[in-house]
Amino acid sequence: MKKLLLSIITIVAAGASVVAADRRLSAEEAEAFRFADGLLRKMTLQEKIGQLQQFRAYTSDVTGPDGEPRNIDAAIRNGEVGSLIAGCQPQHNHRLQRIAVEESRLGIPLILGCDIIHGCRITFPENLAMSCSWDIQAIEQSARIAAEESVASGLNWTFSPMCDISADPRWGRVSEGAGEDPYLGSKIAVAMVRGYQGDDLSSDKTIAACVKHFAAYGAPQAGREYHTVDMSEMMFRDRYLPPYAAAVKAGAATVMTSFNDLMGVPASGNRWLLYDVLREELGFRGFVVSDYTSIHEMVAHGVVADGKEAAELSLNAHLNMDMVSGDYLVYTEKLVREGKVSEKLINQLCREVLAVKYRLGLFDDPFKYGSQNQEEAYFRPENLAVARKLAAESMVLLKNEDALPVAEGTKIALIGPFADSQGDQLGSWIAAGDAKRSITFRKALEERYGAENILYAKGCEAERAIEGGVDEAVKIASQADIVLVSMGLPGWHSGEASARSDISVPAVQQELLDALKTTGRKIVVLLSTGRAMDIRNEVAKADAVLVTWHGGTMAGPAVADIISGDKNPSGHLTLTFPHSVGQVPIHYNAKNTGRPSRNPYKPAANYTSTYIDIPNVPLFPFGYGLSYTQFEYSDLKVLTPEVKIGGTVKVSVKVKNAGERDGDDVAQLYVRDLVAETTRPVRELKGFERLSLKAGEERVLTFEIPTSELAYCHRDNTVREDAGEFKVWVGEDSNASLEGEFALKK
Ligand code: NOJ
Repeated sequence: MKKLLLSIITIVAAGASVVAADRRLSAEEAEAFRFADGLLRKMTLQEKIGQLQQFRAYTSDVTGPDGEPRNIDAAIRNGEVGSLIAGCQPQHNHRLQRIAVEESRLGIPLILGCDIIHGCRITFPENLAMSCSWDIQAIEQSARIAAEESVASGLNWTFSPMCDISADPRWGRVSEGAGEDPYLGSKIAVAMVRGYQGDDLSSDKTIAACVKHFAAYGAPQAGREYHTVDMSEMMFRDRYLPPYAAAVKAGAATVMTSFNDLMGVPASGNRWLLYDVLREELGFRGFVVSDYTSIHEMVAHGVVADGKEAAELSLNAHLNMDMVSGDYLVYTEKLVREGKVSEKLINQLCREVLAVKYRLGLFDDPFKYGSQNQEEAYFRPENLAVARKLAAESMVLLKNEDALPVAEGTKIALIGPFADSQGDQLGSWIAAGDAKRSITFRKALEERYGAENILYAKGCEAERAIEGGVDEAVKIASQADIVLVSMGLPGWHSGEASARSDISVPAVQQELLDALKTTGRKIVVLLSTGRAMDIRNEVAKADAVLVTWHGGTMAGPAVADIISGDKNPSGHLTLTFPHSVGQVPIHYNAKNTGRPSRNPYKPAANYTSTYIDIPNVPLFPFGYGLSYTQFEYSDLKVLTPEVKIGGTVKVSVKVKNAGERDGDDVAQLYVRDLVAETTRPVRELKGFERLSLKAGEERVLTFEIPTSELAYCHRDNTVREDAGEFKVWVGEDSNASLEGEFALKK
């Protein structure tokens, strides 16, 4: 107790802007802060400011206006840099680290970060795709593998997980998140933090995670990149905050701000967000980095006149580190001298950075990252097997009319711009992913079915015709028994700065599909994408539709596994596929309105909440996904019809694999709070379980939901659960029909 009190007093003494005294430091954190305090006493103000500045190393990607070109070596030597956005080259990273450690006055090591979003050398499926596996363990494993490959690359920090909930497939960055649901998003965020950081940040197998983009970056107006985010605090707390909060609670060492403004204040200058919510409420103890030049971008936002005012706003908002803009380095000393920023605050911001470096073990051995044998660490066969498993589990079967699986010996025409594209299957943010290591659909299907059974033609480019391409494709298709068409969007259409107003498949590919249809062969569409799309046309024309996403290095073998039936499809959508772009943003957990539609399947002009030209229902709802077998859900039992607040709701259900193949399913539990102080969604996911059942096997699942999961934001913006009645459903998607009831009691 004495020890705890001492550490609290230390924090309070260290700065004006302090962590609330009622939260406990772990022994490891306390030690790190003690170390930082000792070091701070030796540092000049300029050296402290240097720790708050991050620049881009020569080897990293440029993803925004970079400002003045800098001599990075000299800046490190002068103690003007605390961190670099680095590449995955261990020699380069060691060279830069050596300058920091051996040539700067105090030898403080750099923290070297990189966008390891879905894999480092091995590329896993894009994050949205991985979330469709609902396989929390495998997702954690993917992050662990990414961490190990990053360590070998000389990195100690990843800018991941991206915890931005989004229901807008126009936004290119939906590919980087876990979809539209805060409950699932929270589970995945926690798994990724665990995967990257393990139990020990100082181990030579782990790296620091960075929760981003704080906050609500996934709700830009009209889906346009970097656009305004404006929502009620209630909406923010109910739908957007939970995954960030869960990741912070799981111990994420760092957080990144978002580019957007939120309720009128840019995130990078938003003290309510960065201090009151993040530190006071969520108990965050690590450091916050801005997004790329987002501090200086507050000038364009129009809340500050120049870089100096931008630095002042961000520092006082408790933003520790400036990514790339340089405003901290240029203006902080002046701001301190003018009394606009206190030196106490600089001490606090700096000690939070130093403490993370200490916890990583950088002061013990700054070169342990990148000293591994890269040959041994990269592309390990057992890790490629995880990538293959996750790619297969991510794929979502949306339609199948007697087309899949495809038996051995069948002649397959494989057509389309992505069937043999090593680069596109990796998607966006591929760090040190290597397209040459990608195994394409073509290669893997040739291996699985024999090269003589795979007839390949590209047909067209993603957005451009190839002369004679369609004719060749049709000719090949006519010689085959079945046609697989790999169509959709290229890898670079996902990710940052890739917003699209049109979310349908480019016209030239649709023309290819029409031409192939004339052959009368069965057609299977393999949809390559990093977002949900309007695929009405493809669904109408194809016999089967499998969403293959940008499935990463092992996408090809995974597709072959599913097409052949070696693996039964088990992915379930985590982002609603809209009927058309006009419904966007559309998500299953919407509210009811005062005039709900009487028939959401039909357009209507009857003074209810409908469209007059399209239905309310999407093309495919959240949670949807088919299999080659059939799962039957029955006997839903609410085991606790009345539960005291603070207790646990228990619901059981019987699941049977009623088909003839073994398979995996994702059982999903949804609730509705029937009468509440504020309007509640018509359904909310509150439990799920991925399960494997042999043909004919049945199992009883029991879901346990702590009542705290039923908390929601009240009119006074506090989040708590109250007494009242709930409905509960369990099934294979968000339209599950098996239902029950329970009540929470005081
Ligand atoms: C900008 C992106 O928004 C962010 O996600 C990324 O981590 C940084 N650039 C660094 O590359």
